Amino acid sequence: MSPFHLTRTLPEDATDAALRADVQRGLTGHPKTLPPKWFYDAHGSDLFEKITELPEYYPTRAEREILIARSGDIATAARARTLVELGSGSSEKTRHLLDALTDLRTYVPVDVSESALTQAGQALAAERPGLDVHALIADFTAELTLPDTPGPRLVAFLGGTIGNLLPAERAAFLASVRALLAPGDALLLGTDLVKDEEVLVRAYDDAAGVTAAFNKNVLTVINRELGADFEPGAFDHVARWDAEHEWIEMRLRSRTAQTVKVPALDLAVDFAADEEMRTEVSAKFRREGVRAELSAAALELSHWWTDTAGRFALSLSVAR
Ligand code: SAH
Ligand code: AVI
Repeated sequence: MSPFHLTRTLPEDATDAALRADVQRGLTGHPKTLPPKWFYDAHGSDLFEKITELPEYYPTRAEREILIARSGDIATAARARTLVELGSGSSEKTRHLLDALTDLRTYVPVDVSESALTQAGQALAAERPGLDVHALIADFTAELTLPDTPGPRLVAFLGGTIGNLLPAERAAFLASVRALLAPGDALLLGTDLVKDEEVLVRAYDDAAGVTAAFNKNVLTVINRELGADFEPGAFDHVARWDAEHEWIEMRLRSRTAQTVKVPALDLAVDFAADEEMRTEVSAKFRREGVRAELSAAALELSHWWTDTAGRFALSLSVAR
């Protein structure tokens, strides 16, 4: 059994303060919005894992196909001794990378979901003697302080999670990732690609309703944490393709005119019948756009791999 450390980089009341601030801002704004990071309590993390197994949700399978085919190339190019993974979740696909990175000493999974980190981190530490697993409960959109571990460093951001950030947030995020790297260190980035609208919408509105339950879970989190009285059944799940921005937008649509109370914020929020609240964007990318966004953060695209069906891309970029 290897060492497993779990570090909370923010005190629990800071997480609570962040949720309060996000909910206050999001529910009093026009249109109403909520940031997607609050989907991922233990139940939300389980629902996400179920999404990854749905027939309609291709990104996980496509990215796994690329990792199986290319982890050897990634390992040769990066020669990493430390792998930092942002939004690591179950770390399931990462196993292919861990197998290939033969010089690796330390794996640093970073996630807001304590349950996902603990499950994945403990299992990996038990299975891989010699690998130091140092998990961080942290928000990857905030400033990260990483443990002092040996370089070269490879930062992985898989799953297409970068698409859940808005363009300005992505630029700030990539600059902060670059600040974690020394020249020559690398970023491995998963990006879902622009494709047929029907395929995209089905991936976010599956027949079994798992994505709908995942979307509504944010209401349950706010009920539990802030004493709100959202009735999840009073909202419908909506997934829509925004062709101008090239992103899928998930929303919750109020079935009726209703007022929701959020006692912890001393707030009463009116929803009109059919009013829609945005809960997530999931941007889809093209190669030139990814290259340009990386370049703006002083990251040079060096490799671009897709699955055989061309649905999803993994890119490797090197810090200038
Ligand atoms: N990388 C995994 C999981 C993707 S789901 C995969 O490819 O399957 C997105 C993950 O990012 C979840 O585990 C969620 O808890 C985490 N996450 C979302 N927003 C985050 C944030 N702001 N900071 C840290 N982790 C976040
Ligand atoms: C984590 N992220 C990349 C997922 C996505 O596809 O945008 C979250 C998700 N939302 C609905 N289904 C999955």
